[in-house]
Amino acid sequence: MKLAIVGGGSTYTPELIDGFARLRDTLPIGELVLIDPAADRLELIAGLARRIFAKQGHGATVTTATDVTAGVRGADAVLLQLRVGGQAARDRDETWPLECGCVGQETTGAGGLAKALRTVPVVLDIAEQVRRTNPDAWIVDFTNPVGIVTRALQTAGHKAVGLCNVAIGFQRKFAAHLGVDPELVRLDHVGLNHLTWERGVTLLDSPGAATGREVLPQLLAEHGEAIAADLHLPLPVFRRLGVVPSYYLRYFYQHDVVVEELKVKGSRAAEVAAIEQQLLEMYADPALDTKPELLGKRGGAFYSEAAVQLIASLLGTDGRTTVQVVNTRNDGVLPFLPDDAVIEVPAEVDATGVRPLPQRPVEPLYAGLIAGVTAYEHLALDAALHGGRDRVFDALLAHPLVGQIELADQLTDRLLAHNRAHLSWA
Ligand code: G6P
Ligand code: MN
Repeated sequence: MKLAIVGGGSTYTPELIDGFARLRDTLPIGELVLIDPAADRLELIAGLARRIFAKQGHGATVTTATDVTAGVRGADAVLLQLRVGGQAARDRDETWPLECGCVGQETTGAGGLAKALRTVPVVLDIAEQVRRTNPDAWIVDFTNPVGIVTRALQTAGHKAVGLCNVAIGFQRKFAAHLGVDPELVRLDHVGLNHLTWERGVTLLDSPGAATGREVLPQLLAEHGEAIAADLHLPLPVFRRLGVVPSYYLRYFYQHDVVVEELKVKGSRAAEVAAIEQQLLEMYADPALDTKPELLGKRGGAFYSEAAVQLIASLLGTDGRTTVQVVNTRNDGVLPFLPDDAVIEVPAEVDATGVRPLPQRPVEPLYAGLIAGVTAYEHLALDAALHGGRDRVFDALLAHPLVGQIELADQLTDRLLAHNRAHLSWA
């Protein structure tokens, strides 16, 4: 089996390599191609990838390509993990919205819109090259904002699915609290990428079983304090609601508090850039043959596990139907959203494709926000595909965190001023 990673020169790649090596029984990779326009970074990462595989006795070959078409030839699956404009562009996304009193974040709010506008055309171009070279390959998108990017890919008819690590993160945390194997924990996870709630947690009778018992009330009673502290959410509200929102919901539920925190804190992009600098120095050491602990300071815990399981099921190498949380077309699963919206819910996954599982009605407290952000995502995709100041303004006006004409105007001006180099139409 051949896998290709677009954005393979990322300092994050060794995390995936480590997962591929550990989980080779689930996903037997024969060749891994790292694709990246940054040739020097690519060789550095490929060198370390080869050493990690060798150390763990994995026979896969690691090759490199700076050209997408050349790299994806013959690949069974193509992973997208790119960042247009790098951490410098992210730093701006996290900074200028604060000047308007709005959250500065790489996926939520105005910063997330900027990232979507820069990213969608690049990803669609890459997907087109994949389709021309290799029409049967699955595209697995980790590239943020995953909801909008997956919607762009699926609307253009690509064989694509979006993946985020928020759900697997909860699964692992809850399993640790319960003292059970993570495979026994199934989440009742609903919403949009980076806008989700765990409405239930089932402790399965056995891995993959259709039966089990609901343990979320028990988890909240016994570990509510730790879970709330981890998410920085006030315990009483959280206990009363009886659901576990993802930490991205804090940007909505405590927006103004977060803005004040971010104003003094400095950007996450700056932190990440410093970590990346250190990582690159470590990777250059020919004696290094494991994933350094420092990588754990990045936000992507368990990405490799999620990716391995998803790809193994999509390609049928595990020969079974699994249930995994993915980003895919709504098609009536949440009846208050359009069919072409991309939702993040558990889905059955196997070699015949991805089938989101039916969801019980979503309570108004969550459905309202989901519907509002879906409308924003629709308009954001429209702006990314067709450009124009008015489309950017409309997307911001529709965003539940913006919603006012003067604010949308100020944010639009800043977004365009900071992103001209990456927007062909601006
Ligand atoms: C989580 C999110 C990802 C995001 C990452 C950021 O893993 O699910 O979508 O890219 O955090 O981590 P970073 O280390 O770049 O801040
Ligand atoms: Mn994510």
